[in-house]
Amino acid sequence: MKIFIDSADVETIRKANETGLVDGVTTNPSFIAKSGRKFTEVVREICSFVKGPVSVEVMAETCEGMVDEAQKVAELAPNIVVKIPMTVEGMKAIPVLEQEKKIHTNVTMVFSSTQCFLAMKAGACLVSVVLSRLDAIASESIILLEDAVTIKNNYGFTSQVLAASLKTQNHVLASLRLGADIATMPDTLFFQLFKHPLTDAGLAAFMQDWGKVPK
Ligand code: E4P
Repeated sequence: MKIFIDSADVETIRKANETGLVDGVTTNPSFIAKSGRKFTEVVREICSFVKGPVSVEVMAETCEGMVDEAQKVAELAPNIVVKIPMTVEGMKAIPVLEQEKKIHTNVTMVFSSTQCFLAMKAGACLVSVVLSRLDAIASESIILLEDAVTIKNNYGFTSQVLAASLKTQNHVLASLRLGADIATMPDTLFFQLFKHPLTDAGLAAFMQDWGKVPK
């Protein structure tokens, strides 16, 4: 499973990227606003050191507007994937971008299995299944993720299932067990994955005993 960092904070992304385990980045308009920087500037900087795909959202609401905006955004760097909203207009834009314009797309704000199906049928490269926002309203996010993988496999869709809005290690574990192609997560969750109290305790004991070894 590929790991993406869900952020538009350059230093955060850089630190995670230095581990060598990060395969890409997903941004969204809220992250860009939080960065306090100009959109084009921050996107160019992220794309300058992240080798894999960097998802960047378009804000137009019509198919034509999305296609125009996507082409401008895609010119910022070769590794940009354009985030398209899960709307009728968005689904109309997907084949134009993927097939005619050769620009990869990531359908965002997918909250139901039937939306997954439509995004895959439209030919999106990535389909972002948003987990924790569903958990927050007592909906079954893990069933949605399972459905996304099943729908993809049943019909041989080429879209990659991207588990998004992950907040806990259990979200990551579920993504792994269900066979998600990609998990995007905040850097804090990414670094939590390295940790286990028994690792810390075991290494501390080894260090202490190493001090007793005659040198
Ligand atoms: C999805 O498009 C977003 O980038 C992100 O995964 C949403 O995460 P959040 O629910 O933590 O805002």
